[in-house]
Amino acid sequence: MPALEGKERHSAIRDLIIAGLSEEIMSDKELHIETQFIHGGYEPEKTTGATQAPIFASTAFAYESAESIENVFAGREFGYVYSRLSNPTLTAFEARMTQLENGLASLVCASGMAAISTTVMTLAGAGDEIISGASIFGGTYSLFDRTLPRYGITTKFVEATDPEAYRQAITDKTRLIFVETIGNPRLDVPAIADIAKVAREHGVLLVVDNTTSTPYLFRPATLGADIVVHSTSKFINGSANAIGGIIVDAGSYDWSHARAERIHDYQKRAGKFAFMAAMRSQIHRDLGACLSPFNAFLMTTGVETLGVRMQQHCENAQAMAEWLSADSRVEETRYIGLESHPDYGVATRQFGGRYGALLTLRLGTRERSFTFLNGLKRAQILANLGDVKTLVIHPASTICREATKEQQIQMGVTPDLVRVSVGIEHIDDIKADFDDSLNKM
Ligand SMILES: Cc1ncc(COP(=O)(O)O)c(C=O)c1O
Repeated sequence: MPALEGKERHSAIRDLIIAGLSEEIMSDKELHIETQFIHGGYEPEKTTGATQAPIFASTAFAYESAESIENVFAGREFGYVYSRLSNPTLTAFEARMTQLENGLASLVCASGMAAISTTVMTLAGAGDEIISGASIFGGTYSLFDRTLPRYGITTKFVEATDPEAYRQAITDKTRLIFVETIGNPRLDVPAIADIAKVAREHGVLLVVDNTTSTPYLFRPATLGADIVVHSTSKFINGSANAIGGIIVDAGSYDWSHARAERIHDYQKRAGKFAFMAAMRSQIHRDLGACLSPFNAFLMTTGVETLGVRMQQHCENAQAMAEWLSADSRVEETRYIGLESHPDYGVATRQFGGRYGALLTLRLGTRERSFTFLNGLKRAQILANLGDVKTLVIHPASTICREATKEQQIQMGVTPDLVRVSVGIEHIDDIKADFDDSLNKM
């Protein structure tokens, strides 16, 4: 097949860029989520019929004339320019995630932290405030608590599950509310619809980190989240072979609102795509935290199996939690699928009776926890979650070590706490490994 030329080439590129927005793909939203994981946002590529989005390992993209690249820079024509800004392989992953999160458009980033920092730095600047649930991932906590204040953006941390606490913290300077769907590692479950109601009443934008629940359990945009972010390094990827992040704009926020003043210039130019335009042509472009096309390829293919993986993660974690909660060697087992969990009701309503892969154990003392971790043969001690393998970590001495004692309490971190990301190995093998190691304590 001859290569596409001139106008035809431009319209093919344009189609790829806006793939996530086409009528055809929007109508795919009727499909079951498991089917969308596999087919969402991508059809076999037209030139070769490749069933996977090809890896465009190209730093920049050539133009046939000075005028045509000028047109792209001036925004009069669509086109790829430089892979720090965009690339067809990244577009394919963005289109899939846009569909999976019921969004308007997406931007992939180098990591989950890049997705969160790019989002906040696009919407807030010196003198502005954000509000965040207090029981969030340690890295995000550190960004909000230690790094952003250096640039004049301050955070009010509130009890994550209390909608009224968010309301009390809102001031004229508030630019967004940030919340995680399953607090990591406290495993608390904020009622997103209730927090979205508070946010909407005050015209505040709601950003939800859906990393730990994934679109398999729940799509935050359907309950009022305006922006959904992910560390795609976890369940989306699945095999723990690449770091990545994504920002999905649900299309629900009115960018002309006074609280979005940082991007009003883009609203005039890009209308409903103001937030995406502001990130792509300013903050993301300038900070440079872009994803490599190879990693985008790993994410796009990884997410295809998310349905069966999540089903097995949920089944295994539920079985482990029920078994461990009845075991006298463990002081406390926390899992949102146990009726004893304070947020069991919210989790059941929000996630439709599936509760994810994360559980925590309290083993009495730090020493007993270390003995347990060191005694495991198959579960791996490491700082990650959402891999197909069972993973364990002692948060107080690792991912939450920078937090003060008081902050650790807010995060649900005690010296004897072990976080488990239950994998999809055969349940009997995970149990046997834990059983042997608990006996060594
Ligand atoms: C809930 C949550 N959000 C964000 C991140 C940061 O993601 P990344 O490691 O891809 O930067 C993590 C990492 O563990 C996380 O657990």
